[in-house]
Amino acid sequence: MIILGFESSCDETGVALVCTERGLLAHALHSQIAMHQAYGGVVPELASRDHIRRVVPLTRDVLQRAGLGPQDVDAVAYTAGPGLAGALLVGASVAQAFAWARDLPAIPIHHLEGHLLSPLLAQPRPDFPFVALLVSGGHTQLMRVDGVGRYELLGETLDDAAGEAFDKSAKLMGLGYPGGPALARLAEQGDATRFVLPRPMLHSGDLDFSFSGLKTAVLTKVKQHSQDPGGLSDQTRADLAAATQAAIVDVLSAKAIKALKQTGLKRLVVAGGVGANTRLRDNLARVLPGMQAESFFPPLEFCTDNGAMIAFAASERVKAGLATLERGQHAFTVRPRWDLAELGA
Ligand code: KG4
Ligand code: ZN
Repeated sequence: MIILGFESSCDETGVALVCTERGLLAHALHSQIAMHQAYGGVVPELASRDHIRRVVPLTRDVLQRAGLGPQDVDAVAYTAGPGLAGALLVGASVAQAFAWARDLPAIPIHHLEGHLLSPLLAQPRPDFPFVALLVSGGHTQLMRVDGVGRYELLGETLDDAAGEAFDKSAKLMGLGYPGGPALARLAEQGDATRFVLPRPMLHSGDLDFSFSGLKTAVLTKVKQHSQDPGGLSDQTRADLAAATQAAIVDVLSAKAIKALKQTGLKRLVVAGGVGANTRLRDNLARVLPGMQAESFFPPLEFCTDNGAMIAFAASERVKAGLATLERGQHAFTVRPRWDLAELGA
């Protein structure tokens, strides 16, 4: 079965074709980063309008790359939530319109399930069960994953997400949007030991996170060093970036390790935009073998939002018998807020 998948929950338009037998056939992506940069963050109305502009050309592109036509598609999938309501509606409407026109089933997909299963797009593929550390701009969660659709929440952030901590700290340091990759780049030139930043909830005994205190600590340092002769120097900024990254990576790694110990599982899957962070990847890859555990990451291009993970999640749900493949059902809704744990098997 060939599935055409659409992702439009935030600032990336992604379209992909996945075959249930042969895997990923083709994918295409348009990032709106350059458009939102001028505003220092995502402007929801602009995001929706840009999705509208991009989605049809991207669909044509993906079909062409796979050497297929609309008649070869057997089912359609789309991100139904969580995300920005207007942005979600674009992908959902286009997917449903395509399905209606060709009398195909349409499969709504949870955005985080897409992230969660994205490491399975790579080789070696982790076997179930595993612990998943989901770290994106909007979410920070530790899940126990026993199979497709079988997700148990182990812990989550009580305030800001890890990606948000990166983005907000970067903004305080005067770095562009999105702050995560910019902060990570600058951190490579910094000394992570010059500033000691808090590791919130490191010893809380549970698997929850909190990142809002870190942002406050960064703000205090920025204000303090803005009084230096000549203002906040490049070196101070780089040292602060390195310290911020080290604090976030430390907390994420420690809690992920605790989740492995608590569940007795030996496989950790890291997914979501922050999973692109090299320090986080290196840290886990270094520490886990010492406890006979392994870490799995999606290929870098599938860490941040993309259509491949949505088409792939739909394909996995179809194979697990969890997707309703009814035709002629094109009334739809999107869910800007949607708890992943609600996706029971
Ligand atoms: O998964 P994603 O593309 O979108 C959401 O679903 O939120 O994640 C985006 C987040 C942003 O906060 C971005 O700053 C962060 O992932 N990010 C990074 C890196 N690349 C992206 N954070 C740290 N280091 C990176 N290399
Ligand atoms: Zn995402």
